[in-house]
Parts: sequence; C-alpha cells; structure tokens
Amino acid sequence: MKRIIAGILGAALLSLGAQAQASESKALPDYSWSFDGIFGQFDRAALQRGYQVYREVCAGCHSMRLVTFRNLADLGYDAEQIKAFAVETTVIDGPDDEGEMFERDGKPSDRLPSPFPNDKAAAAANGGATPPDLSLMAKARPHGPSYIRALLAAGYEEPPGDFEILEGQNYNTYFPGNRIAMAAPLDDDVVEYQDGTEASVDQMAADVSHFLMWTAEPKLEQRKEMGIKVVLFLLVLSGILYAVKRKVWADLH
Ligand code: HEC
Repeated sequence: MKRIIAGILGAALLSLGAQAQASESKALPDYSWSFDGIFGQFDRAALQRGYQVYREVCAGCHSMRLVTFRNLADLGYDAEQIKAFAVETTVIDGPDDEGEMFERDGKPSDRLPSPFPNDKAAAAANGGATPPDLSLMAKARPHGPSYIRALLAAGYEEPPGDFEILEGQNYNTYFPGNRIAMAAPLDDDVVEYQDGTEASVDQMAADVSHFLMWTAEPKLEQRKEMGIKVVLFLLVLSGILYAVKRKVWADLH
C-alpha cells in the first residue's frame, strides 16, 4: 500500500515538474491558418511547398512513417508526379527467392523513406537525441502547427548569460526546457520554391507546419464538412419536428 501511495505521489510530483518545465517556454505567437475554424480548409499550394521543405530539409533527419507517396494525391499531385517522387527513392525489399534482401526503386504504395535504418542509428548520428518521426507531430504537441512554426522560425536565440548550454544543445525559447538537440534547420532560401514564393525562414516554417498538420490529420476537411452537414441536418430536423408538433396538437386546443 505504502508503495502505491509513494508511486502516486511520485507521479504527481513528476507531472508537476514537467509542467513547471513546460511553463518556461514562451507563449506562442498568434498565427492564423487556413484550416482554422469550422469552415477551415488546407491550402494546396502551402501543402506542396511544405512537402518540398520536408523533403529537402527535414527528411535528412526525420522519418515520416505513416505517409505513403500515394497519399500525396491529396496535395493535388497527379499520378505521374507521385510516381516521379517515388522512383527518386531507393527501397530495401525482400527477401527474394534466395532469401536475400534487395534494393529497388520506390513505388507509389511505399512509405516516404526514413533517413536512418533504426532509432539507434538516428540517435548515434544526432549526438544521442533521436529525431522523432514527424507524421503525427502536429497532433502530439499542444497547438501543434503554431508550436512547430514558432520553434523553427522564432525560437532560436542566443541564450541569456547565465543559461548553461551543453555541447550538442541549442537554445530555443519555445522548446520545453529551452535546450533542444536540433540545431536551427532553416535558413533563408535553403529551398527554391517551384511556385516562386520567397523562401524566408518564416514562410518555410509556416509551409512545413501546414504540411505536418495534413500528415497528422489528413481527413481534417472531411471532418469539418461532416460537422457542417450534421448541424444543417439537425436544424432541418428541428424545424420539421416543430411543424409536426404544431400539427399534432392543433386540434387539441
Ligand atoms: C540535422 C538533423 C535535423 C534536421 C535537418 C531537422 N531536425 Fe528536427 N529534430 C532533430 C533532433 C535531433 C530532434 C530531437 C531534439 C531533442 O529532443 O532535443 C528534433 C526534434 C524536432 C521536433 C520535436 C520538438 C519537440 O517538441 O519534441 C520537431 C517538431 C522537429 N524536429 C521538426 C523539424 C522540421 C519541421 C524540420 C525541417 C524544417 C527539422 N526538424 C529538421 C534533428 C533534425
């Protein structure tokens, strides 16, 4: 019994500690997104730019295990473009009839490639910190898209004088605890947008966060449309029920 109580107390203290740590990070800027609100929709151009940023910058360290090339049709790409993205990658497949693994070109049903064969290799290449899979990141953090955008575009600063930063750590005002193993991944013009948009750090951070919202909730638009339909249905149904009620009771007055 004592142990259980100690366990519960311990957990409570730990969570208090985590909260205290989280509160060290700065309040998020008030970004607005096209997918906000009940009529919110994704912006296809932003999604495509965001995918380009992910592909050319983030995919060097972060995997995206829940997304297949075929899913990219949602961003407005046609079958040819999707095939072209897929064949650029190499996939280890197998075993073949001799029991050997072999390499082949990617195809639309493959998942987006992971930069490292496993988490240990990923950690070893990143000074001990594993870059997390980004598929669900926008849902795994409070205010995901705004948090990710702020983390990337507004959070990296010189640490205050008395703040100790160890080798392999970076100071970021939006990261809980302020010490993050990821060095600032974006710099103006690290990608060249195909649609001619200026690739400022904030633009790229906004686009990639938009894209990560889609990877985390690809059915967001359908969910919102369904919500609107349900509300309309309920309104109409209420009207009909009210009319029926009046009709039924009309003769009883
Ligand atoms: C050089 C490797 C590298 C690149 C490139 C990189 N990251 Fe990271 N990222 C990391 C590592 C390592 C961590 C783990 C940091 C930690 O736990 O301290 C991380 C963590 C994160 C996190 C999690 C923060 C949290 O709250 O836990 C997000 C979100 C993220 N990266 C987004 C991105 C995006 C978006 C890009 C592309 C613009 C990107 N990263 C590019 C290495 C990288």
